[in-house]
Amino acid sequence: MTTHDESRAQSRFLVQRHLRIGWWSLLLFLSLGLVLEILHGFKVPLYVDVSNHTRRLMWTLAHAHGTLLAIVHVAFAATLSITGVAVARRLRIASTCLTLAILFLPGGFFVGGLFFWGGDPGLGILFVPIGAALLLAAVLSTALEVNDAEQ
Ligand code: HEM
Repeated sequence: MTTHDESRAQSRFLVQRHLRIGWWSLLLFLSLGLVLEILHGFKVPLYVDVSNHTRRLMWTLAHAHGTLLAIVHVAFAATLSITGVAVARRLRIASTCLTLAILFLPGGFFVGGLFFWGGDPGLGILFVPIGAALLLAAVLSTALEVNDAEQ
């Protein structure tokens, strides 16, 4: 196998991985939206009561960020596929950061809303800034790689 073939195989592997993560998590987080809709529809107190406002906010944020991050995974796969860039170290870093970000960012919001104290979300919220930093690192690495690949 030549280096070129290896690079193409690595690229295909990453494209498949992010398409899989993206589409399955899109299904998961859109389903969470449906669950929120149902909690509204049946006026379930643990969600709609004013005293549970923190949970509602946290779960809405989990739904919104999870959905958008799932689409970012699909966009990452499309970027690799369309540009045909060789899988450089920066893209492997971006792939790992993006994979962890979709666990930490919406996951942190969700767990933060599961247990909370009054107006303060639970400790799960501590995962959110970690997820945000990982997401920014993934976007920066990808932007730099796409930028260099153009020249
Ligand atoms: C690409 C698709 C979607 C995106 C980007 C998205 C994004 C968002 C955002 C940003 C909010 C917060 C709005 C606000 O509080 O001002 C939200 C709320 C909500 N979404 Fe989605 N959404 C999507 C699809 C869906 C689907 C398919 C459902 C249900 C079947 C859904 C159900 C809800 C519900 C019930 C809320 C309100 C939660 C609450 O305030 O208690 N969403 N969504």
